[in-house]
Amino acid sequence: MRVLSGIQPTGRFHWGNYFGAIRQYLALQGHEQSFYFIADLHALTTIRDAALLRQNTLDAALDLLALGLDPEKATLFRQSDVPEVTELTWLLMTVTQMSLLEKCHAYKDKVARGIPADAGLFTYPVLMAADILAYDSEVVPVGVDQVQHIEVTRDVAQRFNSFYGGEFLKLPTARVLDDSAKVVGTDGEKMSKSYGNTIELFESAKSLKKKINSIKTDSTPVESPKNPETCHLFTLYKLFATTEQQEVLAARYRAGGMGYGEAKNTLYEAAMEHFGAARARRDELALQPDHVQEILQAGAAKARKKAREVLNRCKSACGLAIQE
Ligand code: TYM
Repeated sequence: MRVLSGIQPTGRFHWGNYFGAIRQYLALQGHEQSFYFIADLHALTTIRDAALLRQNTLDAALDLLALGLDPEKATLFRQSDVPEVTELTWLLMTVTQMSLLEKCHAYKDKVARGIPADAGLFTYPVLMAADILAYDSEVVPVGVDQVQHIEVTRDVAQRFNSFYGGEFLKLPTARVLDDSAKVVGTDGEKMSKSYGNTIELFESAKSLKKKINSIKTDSTPVESPKNPETCHLFTLYKLFATTEQQEVLAARYRAGGMGYGEAKNTLYEAAMEHFGAARARRDELALQPDHVQEILQAGAAKARKKAREVLNRCKSACGLAIQE
């Protein structure tokens, strides 16, 4: 099974990124081939500051490695280190219908909010299709917000194959986890950097406490029974807890006599514990930035080899000259 996924370096990773996607990267590494990349080209649609993009890209690599991504088992690289992908993007662009892109939510949402969109944002899904198709990827682990883009990818691949009469591009499938396809943020909406409701993986203890305390709850008094099923504080706790731990807290909700402050404290402790080892590893790795750059470069060399093979296959299909 060939696995691939990408993540944008637009800020520090949050619980949604981890439970929706990164956790899957770790579970799937070591398959026949697994490719994970930092989508710095996609990030250009929102970040226009060179120093910030460089810093975010390094932070992204540090986070992924600290969380357990193992360069022996998976290929980790920067999207922009594989120029074959941007070349493939053009080939795909010529078979992509405008109407397909007009339906994509990132573009549609921006236009709906009256924000002028640039061509980069409009064609973002085609670059993403190239990211996926360039490696003959079969499975793409993501959160539910990316499923539409994977459907676009399949559509584009099918059109390319049907125009040129062959199975040049492989059709990928999205892989989404049922219990964390859409992790909620502190306000109960989808956790997202653009909504300002995120909790980051490596917040300082103080800031983590503050964020968890800001999670919105209802005004049921301390003594009254509470419903864990409708409480997003509890939904977040479930991400960290075993079934037994969940039952213990759920029973306390139902019994009454427990305030939300106490439930918040339980969540805080679970989160500190869950990311504690990764936090320590990250601190160590941060002292070796050259080592991290070497990992990214070795990853890019491996990724380019595969992408070149697929690009050449597609270029020949179109009647373009190829390079070895
Ligand atoms: P990005 O950088 O926004 O998010 C990275 C991954 O995190 C998942 N995610 C969530 N999952 C559950 N709940 C949430 N609240 C939540 N927020 C984010 C996303 O679904 C994603 O899997 N376009 C992509 C990056 C990309 C890509 C690709 C992904 C570029 N090329 C090729 C897969 C394959 C994006 O913006 O993800």
